[in-house]
Amino acid sequence: MPEHETGPADNRIGYDFAVSDSLTAWACPDHGTPLHSNGAALTCEHNHAFFITNGIPRFVQTGSYAASFGSQWLKYRQTQLDSFTGERLSTDRARRCLGEQTWSRLQGAHVLECGCGAGRFTEVLLAQGATVMSIDMTEAVEADQANFPQNDQHRIAQADILKLPFVGRGFDVVFCLGVIQHTPVPEQTMAALFEQVRPGGLLAIDHYTYRLGYFLSTQPIVRAVLRRLSAERGLKATDRMVRTLWPIHSRLRKYRKLLNRVSPVYTYFDQFPELSDEHQRAWAFLDTHDALTDHYKWFRSRRQIECALSDLGAVEVEAWKGGNGVEARCRRPATRRSACAPDDEQSAVTRTSTEA
Ligand SMILES: C[S@@+](CC[C@H](N)C(=O)[O-])C[C@H]1O[C@@H](n2cnc3c(N)ncnc32)[C@H](O)[C@@H]1O
Ligand SMILES: [Zn+2]
Repeated sequence: MPEHETGPADNRIGYDFAVSDSLTAWACPDHGTPLHSNGAALTCEHNHAFFITNGIPRFVQTGSYAASFGSQWLKYRQTQLDSFTGERLSTDRARRCLGEQTWSRLQGAHVLECGCGAGRFTEVLLAQGATVMSIDMTEAVEADQANFPQNDQHRIAQADILKLPFVGRGFDVVFCLGVIQHTPVPEQTMAALFEQVRPGGLLAIDHYTYRLGYFLSTQPIVRAVLRRLSAERGLKATDRMVRTLWPIHSRLRKYRKLLNRVSPVYTYFDQFPELSDEHQRAWAFLDTHDALTDHYKWFRSRRQIECALSDLGAVEVEAWKGGNGVEARCRRPATRRSACAPDDEQSAVTRTSTEA
């Protein structure tokens, strides 16, 4: 009997892994040995089987500490997509975190996107021509797939960053925005992400940072209650809260600083004034839920992030305050090239770093 059974295999909707899966060298998260697809499951030589349900290989069970995110992304599947808002908020954030050099060389690069949610950044990475492996621990993968179906440029798996189904050090870029602060131990998560970066490749991340305004608001108290609810009840509670309070926030916009102290509803009037009223409201529903039901919420300073990445052996470490707190990127040192290695063994992104 397979140890990792996650329900009956159903491969009707997603990518047909049996036909071709040249993009991904799957490895058993427990043994590190290659996984082979029979169309219904990926199996390892030690009899582990990871079923492919709805075309998505499942390496973890749904219902983890991140379950509320799964429900969130299924309910608010399109809210933050640039193609939905008509703005470039996700594009600009991704570009800033990756840096111009990597951004301009994403075409054909192999990118591992961790904690993809509904895919606001999947959209951006695919549009830049990258080959993207999107993973998330929850059924957010269904939302990502509904938005950006798998094809030769895009693969999705339900997996935990701490136990990824890859051999390691194989991706040109590892991209993880909006996630690390929601994991049990952020430093462990950063280490696991960095482990997937190939020599000379890039890791781009962000993290919440300490903000006095948060601790002076009502959000921590309300969150202490809501994060204990089931995913379903948490969604209902925040939905009711925003429905009730949004008219006040919307009408009394000029008192928003005061309102943000007393009301736990999350607004973007200051951060993203370019969003239309309709999108401001939609983002308030989504991010009030996101901010008040997350199981883990950690904060780190710019310096702490910088040190954590340097301690991993990363080079070209850059960290700055921006976006949702601290944004950072770094590289794994490039290995010295053998004089005999053909030039095309190096990817576009790796070549960039060794030339720099
Ligand atoms: C706040 S959401 C951000 C989603 C997306 N990156 C975005 O910015 O819209 C955090 C996501 O990280 C996922 N996540 C949390 N811990 C994870 C882990 N250990 N492995 C994989 N995904 C994880 C959650 O399921 C959730 O979808
Ligand atoms: Zn195995």
